Amino acid sequence: MSEASPTLEKIVSLAKRRGFVFPTSDIYGGLANSYDYGPMGTELLKNIRDLWWKYFITTRPDMVGLQSQILQHPQTWVASGHVEAFHDPLIEDKVTHKRYRVDHIIETWLSQNTTVLNLEMIVVENMSLKEMAAFITKHKIKSPDGNELSEPKQFSLLFETQIGSVAGEKSTVYMRGETAQGIFTNFKNVLDSTRVQLPFGIGNIGTSFRNEVTTGQFVFRTLEFELAEIEYFFDPEKEDWKKIMTQWKNEMWQFATKTLGIQENNLKWRQHTDKERSHYSLDTWDLDYKYPFGYKELWGLAYRTDFDLKQHQKHSGQNLEYIDPQTQKKFLPHVIEPAVGVARLFLMILCDAYWEDKKNNRTVLKLKPSLAPYKAAVFPLAKNKPELVEKARKIFDELSKKYHVAWDERSSIGKRYLYQDEIGTPYCITVDYETLEDGTVTIRDRDTTEQIRLPMTELADYLRNRVK
Ligand code: GAP
Repeated sequence: MSEASPTLEKIVSLAKRRGFVFPTSDIYGGLANSYDYGPMGTELLKNIRDLWWKYFITTRPDMVGLQSQILQHPQTWVASGHVEAFHDPLIEDKVTHKRYRVDHIIETWLSQNTTVLNLEMIVVENMSLKEMAAFITKHKIKSPDGNELSEPKQFSLLFETQIGSVAGEKSTVYMRGETAQGIFTNFKNVLDSTRVQLPFGIGNIGTSFRNEVTTGQFVFRTLEFELAEIEYFFDPEKEDWKKIMTQWKNEMWQFATKTLGIQENNLKWRQHTDKERSHYSLDTWDLDYKYPFGYKELWGLAYRTDFDLKQHQKHSGQNLEYIDPQTQKKFLPHVIEPAVGVARLFLMILCDAYWEDKKNNRTVLKLKPSLAPYKAAVFPLAKNKPELVEKARKIFDELSKKYHVAWDERSSIGKRYLYQDEIGTPYCITVDYETLEDGTVTIRDRDTTEQIRLPMTELADYLRNRVK
C-alpha cells in the first residue's frame, strides 16, 4: 500500500489528531506506557478483534472461545512459572534512578557502534544477565542521560494487588500477565461441557498486564494490553508438532496479509534462540513486522508441550487428563500457542495503511474496508438547505442499518473529504442539487479520489461487495 514506512511521530500525530489514540490521563500529563483509544481507535480495535474471532474461532469446527478473569487464584501464576521466571533484565541510571531494559540499552549502543557489531557479531537475545553486565562494563556504556549505570537485575513483570479491605485479611493476587493461563485452568471445564475432541483449540481475548519500563514505543509496549491467544491441544503420539506449527504459521500469515491486508514484504519470521526462549517452550517463532523502530515481534508462536497442564495438575491436585474416546488412552495433550497483542496488530495496520498522497496533497489511511471505522460517509452539499439535508439523512438512515456510516455537514466538501481520508473511510457520498432533480448522488473513492454518479437506489448494492 504505502511506499515508504512512516515515522512513528507521524503515526502518533495522526492517531491523536483523528481520535485513534490519546495518552491516558492526558489532562494530568499522561501515564507512562498507557494509552486510551478514541472514537476511531475504538472502532478499529473492535474490527480487528471481531475479524480475529471470526477467522480463528467461529469459522473453524475445531475451535471454541472462552473469557476468563483478570484476577485468578494466585497459585495459577506459581504453577505456570510466572512468579519465578517472568522477568525483564533492568538497569538503573545511578543519578536519575530511571530504569531501562538492559537488552535495549545494549541494542541502542550497538546500533550506534556498528564496527563493534561487525567485529563481534553480538546477538543480544543470546546474552545472559552476567554477559550483559560484563558488556556494559567493558564498553563503559552510559544511560541515555549520560550517567553511570547500576548492576543489572531481574525485575518481575507481574503486577500484584490485594483482595480484601480489612487489615490482616488481605491476600496477594496477580493481574494476569497472559490470557493463556485462563485457558489451561479451564481445560477440564471445556472438555466436560462441550463436544470437543483432539485436536482442538481454545481462544481467549482479554486485557493483560505487564510492568514494562521501556518507553517511547507508543501502543507497541504498554502496561495494560489486550492479548488474543489460542491454545491448540493435540495428541503428540498422533500428530507431528512441527506440522501443526507450520499450519499455524500459515494461518497467522494469511490473517495478516489477506484478512488485514498487510504488505508481505513488511513481515518476516524469526526463530527464538535457545537462550531467548521462554521457560515453557520447546520451539518459538516470532512473526515480526517492520514497525517504524525496526522489525519487532508482532505475534508469537510457541510449542508449550504439556508443560502448563502438567504444572496445573501438580499444583491443583486435579486430574486434567484427556481420555481418547476411541482408545480410552488417558494423557495430557500437548499445545501450540499463537499469541498476539491486539494493539500490535492495530499499530501495524496504521503504519501499513498510512499514505502521503503528494499528488493530491493529502494523507490517507488506506485501510481495508472491513477494518475502516466508517464504511462510508454521507454529506449534504450544504447544511442550510433542508431539502438536501433531508435526502442525505434518508440515505444515512438506510445505510446505517447495515454499516457504520459517518454523517458530516460541517465546512466545505473538500475539507470533509480530507478528514474522511485520514480516518480511512473508503467512500464518501454527497447529496447535491442534481440529486433533487434526478435522484443520483456522487460517490467518491478514497484511494483514487475518482467520483461517479449513481442513482440513490443503487447505493446499497454498490457498497455491498466493496466494504465487506
Ligand atoms: N502466552 C504467551 C505470551 O504471552 P509473549 O510473547 O510474552 O507470549 C504475546 O506475548 C504477545 O503479546 C506478543 O507477541 C505481543 O504481540 C503482545 N505483547 C506482549 N507484551 C506486550 C506489551 N507490553 N504491550 C503490548 N503488547 C504486548
